[in-house]
Amino acid sequence: MKFKRPRGTNDLFGAQMERWLEVERRLSSFIRAYGYTEIRTPIFESADLFIRAVGEGTDIVSTEMYTFSDKKGRRLTLRPENTAPVMRAYLENGLHRTGGLTRFYYIGPMFRYDRPQAGRYRQFHQIGVEAIGSRNPAVDAEVIEISLGIYGTLGFPPLDVRLNSVGCPVCRPAFKEILKNELEGMKDSLCVNCGERALINPLRIFDCKECDEVKRRLPVITDHLCDECREHFVRLKLILDGLGIGFIHDPLLVRGLDYYSKTAFEILHPELGAQNALCGGGRYDGLAEDCGGVFTPAVGFSAGLERLIGTLPENFAIDGEVDEGSAYFVLLEGSVEIQALAAANELREGGGRAVVDLSGRGLKKQLKAASDGGFSFAVIIGADEMRSGEAAVKDLVSGEQEMVSFNSLASYIRNRTEEGR
Ligand code: HAM
Repeated sequence: MKFKRPRGTNDLFGAQMERWLEVERRLSSFIRAYGYTEIRTPIFESADLFIRAVGEGTDIVSTEMYTFSDKKGRRLTLRPENTAPVMRAYLENGLHRTGGLTRFYYIGPMFRYDRPQAGRYRQFHQIGVEAIGSRNPAVDAEVIEISLGIYGTLGFPPLDVRLNSVGCPVCRPAFKEILKNELEGMKDSLCVNCGERALINPLRIFDCKECDEVKRRLPVITDHLCDECREHFVRLKLILDGLGIGFIHDPLLVRGLDYYSKTAFEILHPELGAQNALCGGGRYDGLAEDCGGVFTPAVGFSAGLERLIGTLPENFAIDGEVDEGSAYFVLLEGSVEIQALAAANELREGGGRAVVDLSGRGLKKQLKAASDGGFSFAVIIGADEMRSGEAAVKDLVSGEQEMVSFNSLASYIRNRTEEGR
């Protein structure tokens, strides 16, 4: 083979794909029950959108974006995340004029050029929600409840949400100055990266896995919030308590994207190694203005699907749909195709599932495909059957076989399935 899939990407098919579809189906219906509707935005956007929204100094923008020029020289980027695109779509489509709260969710691929390892890919998938148009901390609570709920609904054991407030443009600059001054005296204890970060964006130090010792000695932002941020945080914690939603205040929690203000949260998986963040989110009240729109407060989160599906509880099962009969048509010669295709259609019209084997391979292999595919019956048709007007129908569970006339194949399979239910 000359070609391989690009590093850090995956092919999904077979049983694995079925799990993905089941997870996506269950999570969509869980989220839709909260009144969130799906939004689909382009896979690529103007590079400037992410530079402005996510922030120039972030890892995502400085090293991880797939950016290219199209034939007209426009700078485009494969979306590394979907909060900025959703806000762009919200503003561009004038949804801010409708007032009230707009609740969107999305599922789709994101792209980040990072060093691939277990749980970290260059193309990965997120499911996320964005609630746009309200400053009310009750909306933060709703979003946090949903973020925990998606794991609960799939049967995960209870997980902790780590919560913090990262302040806003009123209180954060002063806190950064305080941090810078503190860090002056600790330069020798910082890693090389943080030595540089200390000057540009000292908050990033909280993200560093090497500087744990220093982090613990630094002042924390929640002791330096402005009144508005403090009240928001207090109220959010009250609502979460009132709803019985457990959280851990982690004063060292910061997020790797610049658009956050006030609430920031993450859910970590206790058994995952370095890449243990299952999901992350928070409030981004300044993003709409950064995108050139009117002030529009908003809050949301995204969950990585590879990490979620990779840690599904062992008892996770795919919900069977009601079986209306399923048959695999085994053809012993090509001349019987038309009859088989017509009979298969009849079964599908009644809600059943039917596959006609058009490969021309031998009986054994076709029968194996029938049982591997989870079909209840194999319908075997050859020249003899054509002459007699009857097909051999094999019950793939009991192994029993019966001759059934062509024009009653669909009803026979339906009835037998109903009896067995
Ligand atoms: P994020 O923390 O960058 O936030 O990503 C959210 C989740 O996506 C992570 O917790 C992780 O599960 C997954 N993820 C991120 N990068 C990778 C990767 N390279 N491979 C596999 N999974 C990955 C955001 O993207 C924000 N847009 C979240 C948000 C929504 N904030 C407000 N609304």
